Amino acid sequence: MSAIPSLSFKPWSATILTLFPEMFPGPLGHSLSGKALSEGLWSLETVQIRDFAAGNHRSVDDACFGGGAGMVLRPNVVDAALEHVMSHETPMTRRPLIYLTPRGKPLDQAMVRRYALGSGVVLLSGRYEGIDHRVIEHWEEQGKLEEVSIGDYVLSGGEMAALTLLDACIRLLPGVIGKEESVNNESFELGLLEYPQYTRPQVWKNRIVPDVLLSGDHQKIVAWRQREAIKITQVRRPDLWVRYQEQTGRKQ
Ligand code: 6GU
Repeated sequence: MSAIPSLSFKPWSATILTLFPEMFPGPLGHSLSGKALSEGLWSLETVQIRDFAAGNHRSVDDACFGGGAGMVLRPNVVDAALEHVMSHETPMTRRPLIYLTPRGKPLDQAMVRRYALGSGVVLLSGRYEGIDHRVIEHWEEQGKLEEVSIGDYVLSGGEMAALTLLDACIRLLPGVIGKEESVNNESFELGLLEYPQYTRPQVWKNRIVPDVLLSGDHQKIVAWRQREAIKITQVRRPDLWVRYQEQTGRKQ
């Protein structure tokens, strides 16, 4: 059962500027986000950058100045596509314009939370060697564009990064995940990696489930999970552990 949206209900909306609109919704059309999409909890629109190219050839790119391999998206084409989308944004509900690039600010859960709280996102996805820097600067200088990366590795284009950013936002939208607990109890929301989970069978390949989880003692279970979360975070992510200690004022 889904809630009945009010007449003025405007779902969280994503607009993606891309040369490959057929890559969307892709995986976001399935599972949790797919169900939420068909229920109207969020909406998706793609804008084909090529539609803003001039001439019979509809050329969107050219060789880069200074030499070297690869092609660069032309500033005038990208700018026309951005103007088309952003001129429809109203001051009250203006969505952030995010250029997905490995040069950008690394995406984290705090940024995801911020995006999910707003009215949606406009995502610019580049391909080839990138986009002419002047159009990025032009929009950035007006405070109208931010550059975001999803991690320290190189993808062949921004589309997969856009899908990742959207997935992270969509699962936080009201009504998308049933129990609010399943979001709030999560590792990154608390600043720790997650404790291990177990299900039936109770013995599998001679491996047993930790006793405490079968004890029925909820307090003991919570304490055990907390200890496990701390242990794994200390070993795997000392950076997160330091931040966690600072934020909780704890000395462990
Ligand atoms: Cl946002 N784009 C591309 N092409 N590669 C990336 C990325 C983005 N974030 C990490 N690697």
